Amino acid sequence: MCGWAGGEVRFYAGSTNTLSRDAAGTCALSRDHEHSDEDPVTEIPEHLLKRSKERKAALSGEAPAADAEPSTAVEPAAGTAPAAAAAPVPDVASAPEPEVIEAVPVAPYVEAANKRKKMPFWIVPVLLCLPVWGAMYVGTLERVPQGLTGLLGEGEELYVESGCSGCHGAEGGGGIGPAFADGEIHETFTSIEDQIVWIAKGSSIVGTGNTYTSSDSPRPRQVGGGMPGYGTEAANSLDIEQIIAVTLYERTQFEPGEGGERDLLLAEQLNLMLETGEWAEALAVDGIDIHDEFAGADLTAETVASWLQPARDALAAAEG
Ligand code: HEC
Repeated sequence: MCGWAGGEVRFYAGSTNTLSRDAAGTCALSRDHEHSDEDPVTEIPEHLLKRSKERKAALSGEAPAADAEPSTAVEPAAGTAPAAAAAPVPDVASAPEPEVIEAVPVAPYVEAANKRKKMPFWIVPVLLCLPVWGAMYVGTLERVPQGLTGLLGEGEELYVESGCSGCHGAEGGGGIGPAFADGEIHETFTSIEDQIVWIAKGSSIVGTGNTYTSSDSPRPRQVGGGMPGYGTEAANSLDIEQIIAVTLYERTQFEPGEGGERDLLLAEQLNLMLETGEWAEALAVDGIDIHDEFAGADLTAETVASWLQPARDALAAAEG
């Protein structure tokens, strides 16, 4: 019936089913559960076992078995036994250890301190920088709202509009052109007349290499080029009153020292005489028309001095 001579049939791993035929030809199926070591089908592949072991170890937080450790497996057997034994437990073992958070009772005042709003981390640098910012802020306040009027107000406007500030700095600190600040302008031009002549002529008329500063200047300078002549170059030319205004501005505003005070008095006197018309009157008495006489290219310090003379006389008279 069963049509098969007998022998073992394996239905599933781990058990052996024996199909046999007796003398009468009846088929009988017997099964035993004996596990055979040589059985090739029941064998679970080595790498799967290893992976399973590792997984279990990882989940339970225990160190995997020594054979799962790659470093010992790779190492050559000879002479390395102690090293292999001392090999550190892989990170896998220590990393996933569950953290035990102990509930330590907290004193009420500690709890209150923890709940209180903390100082933000940036407060310390902010507090440290505060005096510096304060000083800078005060600095900007001192310079900007000067509220200059008259000649000096005109000079202040011209200093920006004519581009002087672009080359010499908004605060007279210098740039492409030299600095005026901290009394420097009074050293390069010990006389205001020399400075007015220089601004009217500029680098090209004075000529490269020639000294342009006052003859008794403690810091004589030679023309290197780059300063426009404002009395001679049509594009940005100024009239003589404007040149006087911007010159007075440069000599009185940028921390000028003692020389600045002297020029401030001159500026005030000139301004007063401009408003009353006394300046033009005084010049007319001497037969001078400053606008006619102003020819930037051959302007001399003596001519400029004669223009300023009425104001100097008035100052001298006031001083007694
Ligand atoms: C394009 C740049 C530039 C502009 C704009 C400019 N200057 Fe100058 N200025 C210079 C240079 C450069 C020098 C140095 C001259 C040289 O080496 O030839 C100079 C020198 C001077 C000096 C002599 C200062 C010293 O200590 O030697 C005075 C004063 C001066 N300029 C006033 C003015 C005034 C006033 C204005 C605006 C009406 C003005 N400058 C506009 C570039 C400029």
